[in-house]
This record gives sequence, C-alpha cells and structure tokens, in this order.
Amino acid sequence: MAKHYPLGIDVGGSGIKGAPVDLKKGEFAADRLRIETPEGASPQDVADVVAGIVEAFARVGADQPVGVTMPAVVRRGVVESAANIDPAWIGTDVEALMAERLGRSVTVLNDADAAGVAEIEYGAGRGVQGVVLVATLGTGIGSALFVDGILVPNTELGHLELDGADAETRAANSAREREDLSWEDWAKRLQRYFSHVEGLFSPDLIVIGGGVSKKADKYLKYLDLRTKIVPAGLLNDGGIIGAASQAVTHA
Ligand code: BGC
Repeated sequence: MAKHYPLGIDVGGSGIKGAPVDLKKGEFAADRLRIETPEGASPQDVADVVAGIVEAFARVGADQPVGVTMPAVVRRGVVESAANIDPAWIGTDVEALMAERLGRSVTVLNDADAAGVAEIEYGAGRGVQGVVLVATLGTGIGSALFVDGILVPNTELGHLELDGADAETRAANSAREREDLSWEDWAKRLQRYFSHVEGLFSPDLIVIGGGVSKKADKYLKYLDLRTKIVPAGLLNDGGIIGAASQAVTHA
C-alpha cells in the first residue's frame, strides 16, 4: 500500500499550488501541481481548484489532513483582509468551506505564516532562538514573526507605512517588476524597508522567502543591516510545506 502524506496547498493571486509533504524530511513527497488561479478568484471557484488538486493526489494523500494558505489575515479559519484578493473573501470561513467541500480536516492560515513555520521547522530559522522574521517578497510582502520558535500570527508587516505609502507597493517583488527596477535600485527599497523593520523589532535573523528568494545573490549583497539576512532554506516551497505541517498539528 502506498504511504500517505498530508497535503499543503498555497493559494496565490496567479497560481494555486499543492503537493503531498513528507514531514519527516520537510520536502515534497511528489511533484508539485500548479493550476492557474481562476479569473476573479471567488471563494467557491478557488475551493473547486483546491478540490481538484486534492483529487489529483488521491493515491498518496487519501484521507490525510489538508493545509491551505491564503494571502490574507486568517483567524480561526476566517479570512479578515483582502489586500491582493477579491474582497468577497472577507468574513468567509474558509476552513469550514474547504472542509465541507473536501470532506476532511482542513487548516487555513496566512501564506507567510505557513512559509515561516516551514523555515523554523526545516529551513534557515531552524534552531534559532530569539526573534526571527520571515518576509516573503512576491505580489505583496508577507511577514511571519517568531519568538523562540513560537509564531505571532498575522503580523502583516508588508503594510507598514513607509514614506507615505503602503510598504509593499514600493518594495515587493511586484514593484520591481512593474517599475522595471534594476536589482540595485530595488535593493535600495529593500534597504529602506528592512532598516525600518529592524528599528521596530530588532530581530536576530531575517529570512527572505517568496519566488525571488532563489535570486538572493542579486540583491542581498547591496543591503547593509544590523541584522543577519539570509534567503529561505526552502526557497518558495515553504508555504506548501508549512501548510501541511500545520494541518497535521491542528487536525
Ligand atoms: C497580505 C498578506 C500576505 C502578503 C503576501 C499581503 O498583501 O496582506 O496577508 O501574507 O500579501 O502574500
């Protein structure tokens, strides 16, 4: 009989990605599946895609708990913000919606918190005491704050106000792409952002997650901070791995 693994599913603005996760190793137990996020990304449509991904892994993931990440504040399964998603999500009990649709235990959490949990368990934050900040740089800026390995959920540090603007509109990877910034010019925005964050929290370690974590050699060299700053050990896979891990913890 095939071994069974919990599933992690990362709901993003452009793609919904999922994989079964081997929690002993902290890695995917099978190749990740990615489906385009449906136009408009309503809760029902996203639930359908999530159900499709769960179905695709029916053999390795049968009856296993499912962890789902959302790019939003999520408290007790309910989405409470919508910076980069359809406002229709606000007030939706995504945990109940997905559990009903999938017929199994579902845990829903913020995407950066999930990536952070994975970094603490298996990646760059493993064994680090004190204050660790995991910041994901993508469409928005996500944040996961840990104190001695314990998560303070939903910190939303991407929305700090910086120079009169919502920080993520200036320093997220989407700003680099939209404004066609060189790595060095984008790094100036990161410098401004992370020096502010460092002034507020005095972290012991900052971990950079998100898709752009694999290009860290292009911009981290320009940053001059008090805090050690490193790319995510799991690169962009942390969201899925952390979601699966939380699903098992909370099942
Ligand atoms: C959202 C966060 C999310 C981050 C990364 C922000 O705009 O408010 O909840 O973690 O984007 O996706």
